[in-house]
Amino acid sequence: MLVLIGKWLSWMFPDNWNPIRNLGALSFYLFWIVTITGVYLFIFFETSIDGAWQSVEKISNNQFYVGSIIRGLHRFASAAMAVTVTAHLIRELMLKRYAGARWFSWVSGVPLLWLLFASALGGYWLVWDERAQYIALTTAALFDVFPIVVEPMAFGFVTQDVVSDRFFSLLIFLHVGVPLSLLLGMFIHIQRINHSKTIPAKGLAICVLTALVFLSVLMPVSSMPQANLDRTLGSIEMDWFYMNLFPFVDLWGPNAVWGILGSITLMLTMLPLTARRSHDVARVDPEFCNGCSWCYADCPFDAIMMKPHAFKKNKRQAVVIEDRCVGCGICAGACPSVTPFKSVNEANSGINLVGRKNFDVLSELKIKLEEATGANKILIVGCDYGTDVKQFEDVQVVTETLECIGQLPPSYMDYLCRKKGVGAVLLTGCRSDDCYHRLGVELQQERLVRLREPHIKYADVGEKIDKLWIGKGGEKEIASHIKVVKKMLQENGAEIG
Ligand code: HEM
Repeated sequence: MLVLIGKWLSWMFPDNWNPIRNLGALSFYLFWIVTITGVYLFIFFETSIDGAWQSVEKISNNQFYVGSIIRGLHRFASAAMAVTVTAHLIRELMLKRYAGARWFSWVSGVPLLWLLFASALGGYWLVWDERAQYIALTTAALFDVFPIVVEPMAFGFVTQDVVSDRFFSLLIFLHVGVPLSLLLGMFIHIQRINHSKTIPAKGLAICVLTALVFLSVLMPVSSMPQANLDRTLGSIEMDWFYMNLFPFVDLWGPNAVWGILGSITLMLTMLPLTARRSHDVARVDPEFCNGCSWCYADCPFDAIMMKPHAFKKNKRQAVVIEDRCVGCGICAGACPSVTPFKSVNEANSGINLVGRKNFDVLSELKIKLEEATGANKILIVGCDYGTDVKQFEDVQVVTETLECIGQLPPSYMDYLCRKKGVGAVLLTGCRSDDCYHRLGVELQQERLVRLREPHIKYADVGEKIDKLWIGKGGEKEIASHIKVVKKMLQENGAEIG
């Protein structure tokens, strides 16, 4: 379903605008909208039992359109955040991004759900209308299950005069404190993600903000009648984004709801344990590491650190934190010592995958190119998570599949593109905005246009390389690309580029 939505959205948006691929960044963005609008609302909010409801009414009705729009933005951005965070969770779940070294981001994401819900519900309390009364009574009923308060909390709400101004100060404290904890949690959540995307593409950000402003104008947010704990509640306007579990408290009782919440939390937290799989890891050979730190800069999962060199004075070297390494090989693609243009120690390099060294990949490719009998060969390099390229092999087409396209060092491209008999090169793999190893496609693109070290040396090499970042299911595109290139090579009777 989410894949279908993703494909559909790909038609509508430019690659880096696609909301489905910006869910984490959008969640951050919405959080900032909620925070800024929240500060505005707080300036005009009165922290007293009598003043709270009235001050919110004044914000909505007495500030021309400004207060009403800001209130709307606060409410709709919170709702949108519930959507983006839930979709982000489902997407990471479907892509199995809880496995292996990614466990940290997954497990640290789980408490964010609790903090997000607590932040939003705390906001509803402050309005002190009938919905707040319903939320307050239901929350109190939920907490009454725990023997932490001597007198049942729900009992404390039975009469109007029990709720004091001090209680409202406590609510404000919570409504500031819980979102601050959420923010702290969000930063911990991305600690093991290098170059994390916390800001959505500019165009997408503008579209989202415009949509939220439109909603706020077209559907002004209003309060329900003021809360009165001496009155029995009638029907309540529910916020289905955040109050979705509340009806179950009435229906099944607090114990059952805690049971459901506890089980979901436990299941989500334990999920990484069910998906342990062995994979390659990178290792540093200090003898050949010159301390350039390019691998450190490129590792998508912060699995590399720089430390004083093991035996070279005043030099640094890279060190792999194996627990965090996913074995993508992007570091080997970034290592300047991985090059075919050296005459000694050609198989050795500063950093490389243990299981499948780049030198072995190159040796394989050389053999395959020699074995292919056709003239003007076409070399296709793909990745394990894109379209399977092996199926296109024939006398003229040679293929190679890497763990990630970022594993391919630019020096290999210089070498292969200039190798006699190679007519054209095609790089393919994940979609440009959705690399399985997060940064492989993006970094390779930058190396190809010489914006990032290490990069290809010769401009004509860049021109000789075609790119198809189409992910899985790109058989048709690749086949028709091969057809066109074959025709061109035949017509020109020479290598293209
Ligand atoms: C307030 C809520 C959340 C925010 C703001 C948030 C934000 C982010 C951001 C910005 C990233 C980095 C994306 C990138 O640059 O590739 C990320 C990654 C991730 N998030 Fe969240 N997230 C939230 C909740 C969650 C939840 C509830 C889960 C799941 C339980 C989760 C699971 C993950 C995982 C597994 C990654 C790593 C993805 C990868 O390795 O490619 N997040 N999140």
